Amino acid sequence: MENEKILITGAGGQLGRVLTQALIDNYGPQSVIASDILPISNFDCPFEILDAHNVADINKIIHQYKITQIYHLAAILSAKGENNPLATWDINITTLFNVLECAKDSNLKKLFFPSSIAVYGTAAPKINTPQHVFLNPSTVYGMSKVAGEQWIQYYYSKYGLDIRSLRYPGIIGHQTMPGGGTTDYAVDIYHSAVKNKTFVCYIKEDTVLPMIYIDDAIRATLELMEAPKENIKLRSSYNLQGLSFAPKEIVESIRQHYPHFEVVYQPDFRQSIADTWPQSVDDSEARQDWGWRPHFSLDDISVEMITQLCYRYELNIPLTQL
Ligand code: SER
Repeated sequence: MENEKILITGAGGQLGRVLTQALIDNYGPQSVIASDILPISNFDCPFEILDAHNVADINKIIHQYKITQIYHLAAILSAKGENNPLATWDINITTLFNVLECAKDSNLKKLFFPSSIAVYGTAAPKINTPQHVFLNPSTVYGMSKVAGEQWIQYYYSKYGLDIRSLRYPGIIGHQTMPGGGTTDYAVDIYHSAVKNKTFVCYIKEDTVLPMIYIDDAIRATLELMEAPKENIKLRSSYNLQGLSFAPKEIVESIRQHYPHFEVVYQPDFRQSIADTWPQSVDDSEARQDWGWRPHFSLDDISVEMITQLCYRYELNIPLTQL
């Protein structure tokens, strides 16, 4: 384990920040190299500025640090991606090709590619959405993830590259703000609640979406990556279910701590994206192959988010938390 050298692209993002720290905790600070297109401080490990469009720069880092694994997280998310579809496709796909090619040529041991519930479209059943179903995504982000899933499977079959992947639901965490996703409301709402602000919700009150707490998302990622190779039967991307809820349910959960918390609903273009996504997914293959089980319920998440954000903003923690 101490011989691993793990590169993370997009380490400054919502998942990247926390995953980088988890990898440092598991492998040690000298075994992890964080990278992002922007300079970012406060990593407890070496950091490199990396635009993954540039193959030479990826190769340089691979050789300089003798990289053995890559977590390729750099991407544009669903909502932001709709503002500039061609650039989103280019960033999400070109950087993946670059990482795959560099990995193939330098005999990397393992790679991680994040996929998403955004791969699903109107053709898929909405409840307990099966792993294997027709995929007709409505966003460029979703299209790039469907294509990415196909390509990683191709690199596995053709070159034997050990690439593993999860279809993440919306991720809820307190450490960083999400950047341009459709599920971001479920993070933003806690920031408003602890600051006693009215929250303007761009998703209708009864739209159910699959979500996951950051701790569960990180644990799933590490469990998948550490599972024996022969257990990874699915080489596209595993469905991953954490929990499912609608805005009105998260509001109810928050009101156990802030009874006067106010929300107004003003659905925007993100509603039409959410309308094409599942309400819950069938993750039985993840459960069977590498033992996946989620831990956090909605009320657990509320307690964690409120406590951590009150610390962050130096606010009084509501009595219900103590
Ligand atoms: N959270 C992501 C998004 O909303 C889903 O992968 O774009």
